[in-house]
Amino acid sequence: MTVMIVDDAETNLLVIKSLVDACGIVGASTFKKPVEALSRLDDLGPSLILVDYMMPDLDGIDFIRAVRDRDRFKDTPIVMVTTTDQRSVRLEALQAGATDFILKPIDPAEFKARVRNLMHLADAQTKLRDQAAWLSREVEKALAVARGREAEIVMRLARAAELRDPETGEHLERMSRYSERIARAIGLDDAFCERLRIAAPMHDIGKIGVPDAILLKPGPLTPEERSEMQKHAQQGGEILERSSSELIRLAGEVAISHHERYDGSGYPFRLAGDAIPLSGRITALADVFDALTSARPYKPAWPTEQARAYILAERGRHFDPACVDAMMSVWPDILAIHDERATAVATTQT
Ligand SMILES: [Fe+2]
Ligand SMILES: [Fe+2]
Repeated sequence: MTVMIVDDAETNLLVIKSLVDACGIVGASTFKKPVEALSRLDDLGPSLILVDYMMPDLDGIDFIRAVRDRDRFKDTPIVMVTTTDQRSVRLEALQAGATDFILKPIDPAEFKARVRNLMHLADAQTKLRDQAAWLSREVEKALAVARGREAEIVMRLARAAELRDPETGEHLERMSRYSERIARAIGLDDAFCERLRIAAPMHDIGKIGVPDAILLKPGPLTPEERSEMQKHAQQGGEILERSSSELIRLAGEVAISHHERYDGSGYPFRLAGDAIPLSGRITALADVFDALTSARPYKPAWPTEQARAYILAERGRHFDPACVDAMMSVWPDILAIHDERATAVATTQT
């Protein structure tokens, strides 16, 4: 606990300091110049300030105002030591943020009693503030752990689904990064973009319910097989729906809506336009773009320019125009994500 004493008269400083010392408080700092005291405020961090009223450069009231301007000293007790008991001065000092007054000549017994009380108050305030800060740090830590676990569960589920799905982990990684990039380009908030990046790889989780004969069939699917395959969207939604976790609910939303089309010709519900959740409209675009630009057993990888032309042609049909525009506005970033994979593949091959 430190005490700051500010008074332009040397004798007053000595008297007040000896009284403070007598209260058992060691290391009180004294200042003849209020401006100098202000400049040392942050590094000294006093728990109690005693300030004179009449001083040449800056009077006690202006000094109190300057102290109160700093957030850290909003609640620090400040006592004005003054020869005047003028009502208007007291009122102005109180309005400026003074906590208490001590009249000169100082009555040592009264002074000690007041200083002790104020030190107790300052002590309690510091403890309370420290405790609140500690508590909020602990809550933040616990939340970060919970969020990390949630993200891990989602990732592990996606990995489990990958074992059955011929689509690679690289597809999941890329489409989730495209989704995040598009979401950011739309201007969605940070937390949502981050959640979407983690949730997007779950889009095909429902494929764990599709029979192997259909899922792994190399040739084209019959209409019955196709409708069986299409059930993966709804099944994914059912696996993830009604979670208390915002992240898992978002993953469910992506799973159930990533095959809807903007013009209402998609599945499972033939939703159109804004009736399709935004997460579904974004991931649909990211998913198709990555599918087009990746080699599959039945087709080679399309060049990015060809995929871009396809997406533009499907603007307002398969895809939400706003999502397409957002994707185009960050096209170099999309290409960078795409090329990263190409470089990685080239590196592993050499
Ligand atoms: Fe899908
Ligand atoms: Fe996919």
